[in-house]
Amino acid sequence: MNIVSTVNEVRYAVKEWKQNGLKIGLVPTMGFLHEGHLSLIKKAVSENDRVIVSIFVNPTQFGPNEDFETYPRDLNKDVDLCREAGADLIFHPEPEEMYPDGFCTSVNMTGLTDALCGKSRPVHFQGVCTVVSKLFNITTPDNAYFGEKDAQQLAIIRRMVKDLNFDIKITGCPIVREEDGLAKSSRNTYLNPEERCAALVLSKAVKLGVQLVESGETSSEVILKQMKEVIDNEPLARIDYIEIVDMNTMKNTDTIKGDVLCAMAVYIGKTRLIDNFIHHAD
Ligand code: PAF
Repeated sequence: MNIVSTVNEVRYAVKEWKQNGLKIGLVPTMGFLHEGHLSLIKKAVSENDRVIVSIFVNPTQFGPNEDFETYPRDLNKDVDLCREAGADLIFHPEPEEMYPDGFCTSVNMTGLTDALCGKSRPVHFQGVCTVVSKLFNITTPDNAYFGEKDAQQLAIIRRMVKDLNFDIKITGCPIVREEDGLAKSSRNTYLNPEERCAALVLSKAVKLGVQLVESGETSSEVILKQMKEVIDNEPLARIDYIEIVDMNTMKNTDTIKGDVLCAMAVYIGKTRLIDNFIHHAD
């Protein structure tokens, strides 16, 4: 497995692979890899001849008061995990490689990006769309893999790929959870033991929501009320948002009809965590 930090080095490797007719998978990450990322890498390995993992904590998707500086990083461990999972190339650029002096272009989407996380993180999705477009252009993969934990991000990337005619198949992979239900996230590392325990309200609320939908409840209001109660009962939890939206438009929906996303962001102490469930039309 190779580790490279420049665009030219990636292009060189990709050119050779393409000349040999090999299929390429990309797993974009911000590093500090956990089983969620590994499930993406393993899926990519099973479906492609060569797999690139990008590890880049992208400054443009963090707001001024967010955790860019403190975002956890451990390149050595990430390298070991990527190697074990079967990746072929790690692209680990410095910010200057991705955003050289004079950089002034961005990919901006409206609508989908204004809902849910976009309300409290106004610059986030522009940063994501810009960096993911760059990664797509640098690596020119056949397939790219994203986690369903970031369900809004996944919907936005699917839309962007369609709108901008990227010739890339996007695959979403299910949320990977700890044994007790907490969705795996690099940010879980911020939680102290008391907060780690309190953080279980997210997955408990998700579980309740799924049960309600499976038992035939179709009113978003009824489902959200009961889920909110679970979260509000935890003194360390503060809801940023919890909403049920149409999966394709990210607009609120009163009933569970078609493909819907029930998504939440909840502060546990100072740490903002997200979780969700998706209900597909029968
Ligand atoms: O989901 C993430 O880790 C990031 O948003 C991504 C897609 C790697 C872009 O920086």
